Amino acid sequence: MQEKVLITKHLQDTNLLRLKSVMEIIMPEQGKEFNQVELKTHLREVTAVIAMRTRITAELINEANHLKLICSFGVGFDNIDLKAATVNNIAVANLPGLVTSATAEHTLALMLALSRRIVEADQYIRFANDHNWHPYLLLSHEIRNKKLGIFGLGNIGLEVARLAQAFQMEIFYHNRQRRNEIDFAHYLSKEELLKSCDYISLHLPLTAETENYISTKELELMRKDAYLINVSRGRVVDENALIDALKSKKIAGAALDVYRNEPIVSGELKKLSNVVLTPHIGSTTVETRGKMVKKVVDTIINYFAGKKVDNLVNNDGVESCQRF
Ligand code: 8YV
Repeated sequence: MQEKVLITKHLQDTNLLRLKSVMEIIMPEQGKEFNQVELKTHLREVTAVIAMRTRITAELINEANHLKLICSFGVGFDNIDLKAATVNNIAVANLPGLVTSATAEHTLALMLALSRRIVEADQYIRFANDHNWHPYLLLSHEIRNKKLGIFGLGNIGLEVARLAQAFQMEIFYHNRQRRNEIDFAHYLSKEELLKSCDYISLHLPLTAETENYISTKELELMRKDAYLINVSRGRVVDENALIDALKSKKIAGAALDVYRNEPIVSGELKKLSNVVLTPHIGSTTVETRGKMVKKVVDTIINYFAGKKVDNLVNNDGVESCQRF
């Protein structure tokens, strides 16, 4: 009997033909999703799963008797219970490095959208009755020469720093380890970074240590004219604290691509005008999605062919792969 692979969201890519030649693919139809019962049922019959933000919990893993490989369709794998997978002898793979460029570009796009008030300008053209142009209409700021603070100088954080260099931004970072080899970014303590930067950008994986990394205390430290950008994980920010800070203008604004309860976005956030919101599309580019599908298909084919797979995250029961 042919082995089966579950893909939790509909994918379209010619690379799937390679996968189909060795495994039966179970995937929702375009525009549809599996509900929790269907997910559980399918997980019981497959040997591999490609999880796209779908939570693969310990409960699901414990019942998935044939499952041997869980692939996160992204660099982050906080949606997968790594401990339960490891205990059940299930390998977990991610896609390190591939989303770096797209996510970093999206970060810059959000920074520019905030600084140049792009969303407001678009709304103005479409909905404002008053088309009376004047020299201070939608007056905004440049990012050139401003201070950028990066939390998490991994692959994506570093690429953001590189792109920001083109705007002659002053670049600061806070990281678990100092990266002295990066001479154009200066290390600051968490507090100093929060206090001094015009733009603060989050590039941290979601772990027990980084959950609510930015909360009331941190937002209080930020400057009144500073902006927060989050393209990492929603739970890295205490969303209620952020909503309070935005409402009371403790900070100037925020741009978010990720949310606490994705795909649901808080109604409170949607009401605020000093926030730019995008629906977790940091890596959604033609170029990156193509590379991601190719890599995830290679991972599954190679893993079951007994070949070397370089992107397993629970080798020897420890997280060994580069994150973010
Ligand atoms: C993915 C992401 O596209 O790579 C990640 O960790 O967050 C995204 O860029 C998303 O997770 C889809 O699976």
